[in-house]
Amino acid sequence: MDMISINIDGKQLKVSDGKTILEAALENGIYIPNLCHHPDLVPSGNCRMCMVEIEGGRGQITACNTKVAEGMVVRTDSQEISLIRQTTLELVHVNHTQDCTNCNKNSNCQLQKVTAYVGVDEQRLKRMRRTRPIIVDDTSNPFFVLDHNKCIMCGICIRTCDEVQGVNALDYGHRGFHTIVSTFGDKPIKESVCESCGECVVRCPVGALYMKESRIPTHEVKTVCIYCGVGCNLFLGVRGNSVVSSRGDRESIVNKGRLCVKGRFGYSFVNHPDRLSKPLIKRDGKFVESSWDEALDLIAGKFASSKGSKFATLTSAKIPNEDNYVIQKLARAVLGTNNVDHCARLCHAPTVSGLVQSFGSGAMTNSIDEFTNISTLFSIGSNTTAAHPIIGLHIKEAKRRGAKIIVANPKEIDLCRFADVYMQHKPGTDVVLLMGMMKVIVDEKLEDKEFIKSRCEDYDQFIESLSEFDLDTTERITGVPREKIEEAARIYATNKPSSLVYAMGITQHSHGTDNVLAVSNIALLTGSIGKESSGVNPLRGQNNVQGACDMGGLPDVYPGYQKVNIPEIRAKFEANWGVKLDPEPGITHTEIFNEIEKGNIKSLYQVGENPILSEADANHVKKALANLDFFVVQDIFMTETAKYADVVLPAT
Ligand code: SF4
Ligand code: SF4
Ligand code: SF4
Ligand code: FES
Repeated sequence: MDMISINIDGKQLKVSDGKTILEAALENGIYIPNLCHHPDLVPSGNCRMCMVEIEGGRGQITACNTKVAEGMVVRTDSQEISLIRQTTLELVHVNHTQDCTNCNKNSNCQLQKVTAYVGVDEQRLKRMRRTRPIIVDDTSNPFFVLDHNKCIMCGICIRTCDEVQGVNALDYGHRGFHTIVSTFGDKPIKESVCESCGECVVRCPVGALYMKESRIPTHEVKTVCIYCGVGCNLFLGVRGNSVVSSRGDRESIVNKGRLCVKGRFGYSFVNHPDRLSKPLIKRDGKFVESSWDEALDLIAGKFASSKGSKFATLTSAKIPNEDNYVIQKLARAVLGTNNVDHCARLCHAPTVSGLVQSFGSGAMTNSIDEFTNISTLFSIGSNTTAAHPIIGLHIKEAKRRGAKIIVANPKEIDLCRFADVYMQHKPGTDVVLLMGMMKVIVDEKLEDKEFIKSRCEDYDQFIESLSEFDLDTTERITGVPREKIEEAARIYATNKPSSLVYAMGITQHSHGTDNVLAVSNIALLTGSIGKESSGVNPLRGQNNVQGACDMGGLPDVYPGYQKVNIPEIRAKFEANWGVKLDPEPGITHTEIFNEIEKGNIKSLYQVGENPILSEADANHVKKALANLDFFVVQDIFMTETAKYADVVLPAT
């Protein structure tokens, strides 16, 4: 952006062209009072507190929505400006409860700051005050309160819900003196479309929106959200030995300070009284607390008696890389088996197998912040805004900038509200839909010939495979009208950069790998891969599915996807770990329970997993677990599965 020269209050400044006067002033340490400005939002100019004068201009203008211009001379204070600000501010105070000492924003409140700077005439305020009935707080939301009596009508919450969240749960309601922030139909917030993200709460400049549970921490710890695969960066606030707050890291390219309801409010489990803190050994059908030494001696003895193929371990997509590395090494190097797996088997195993075949790596090919600059987003089998809310926000942001959105999903998901093309195909017809789209792309010569020539193999065979997928057949099988298939194909192939996201809607299938291969093929066909904001992106469910796979929490590979049955690779690990390793790949998550049921696996060590909930057939898992000789679970709470264990170890 070009730099231009302006003068504010006699200071000569170089500022970026395109900035507003308010931004330029604040960035250069010149305070202009403001109440409705927020750097994340489009200026609304409604509080009238940021009035300034421009040399050669007429009267006063608002600094928050006036752009700087070369040679501009700005005055931020004058008698007229002071009078306007003071009068406007007094009108705000007239409606405001004067309850600062009981307010959680006390000392951190924009209204206090502006009042201290501008000043109010207490006598005039007294005369202007009108009796307004106290409006009852909206406490319906489980996480935050809306106190109308402290609201200054800045509209920041309303604009946040629209511009940041794309939810539009809030707006002004009623008229004149009785105007309040309200929901559609003036219902309690809980009954509105509010998603409880708390984004409006953290931006409210006063104490009108505040969190129910949050307390001021003594210090903060930077960490990563433990819920989904987006990996939002956040700061957990600590007070004493408790986590008392959570806030997004504005410097993070993943979430830019934003959090969803889980990351913002879901931290009470950390200090929950039901957390496991001591090892438990089952005696006569009941768990009793034990020392670590006693529990570890028992485990070591039992595991030693069922080494090799009689042993299996389920590692976890919810623990760090280091823990996954150690657990798979324990199974391989100490207990002599490759029977290591984790819950990725139930969600994204087809991603690993499909994307490794196509691209050599089973991971997202774009960084999350690249979504903001896409021209086309194709979402298939992903309820993106619900399951990966912050990626959903990046996509909505891209839409606001003019990106096109294509959604293919049997369920009409929230993202459909933003879609240019929505294809509601029948469940299980993903491959046909994608093949139909690819046929359109080839028939209309929209493929990227250069990319195909230099980067792809077996193209003729691929073209042959498309012959069955004419539009009539595709329409009949998928139930999607041919015009939509054509439109989606054209947009994806021509409105570049195009990026594709998918999730368990296409992987949790008997033919999940075929779905992933079809998704890779459409990206390869159009050259929409390996470029900025252009690629194929599996959205992972748990927070560290990627790490658990990378670290070798899989039966056929060591860390780094190095095959256990390739002698040179095995020799390398044997040399490093100083032991002989099993040359045969182990068995998978689902096979492990089959083998336990058959009596072939005698001992199981399971960390941070709950198969009775996550496996498709809970009764099968229960039956199998009852057949084990020895079962150890390590977890943070007593889970449905942990109840079947012989020893339960507390995890952190
Ligand atoms: S609730 Fe807060 S953010 Fe919303 S209009 Fe009132 S003062 Fe502004
Ligand atoms: S919590 Fe989120 S969804 Fe709910 S009103 Fe506030 S910004 Fe909108
Ligand atoms: S989007 Fe995922 S990682 Fe981000 S705050 Fe929500 S649950 Fe946590
Ligand atoms: S900050 Fe400019 S009008 Fe409110």
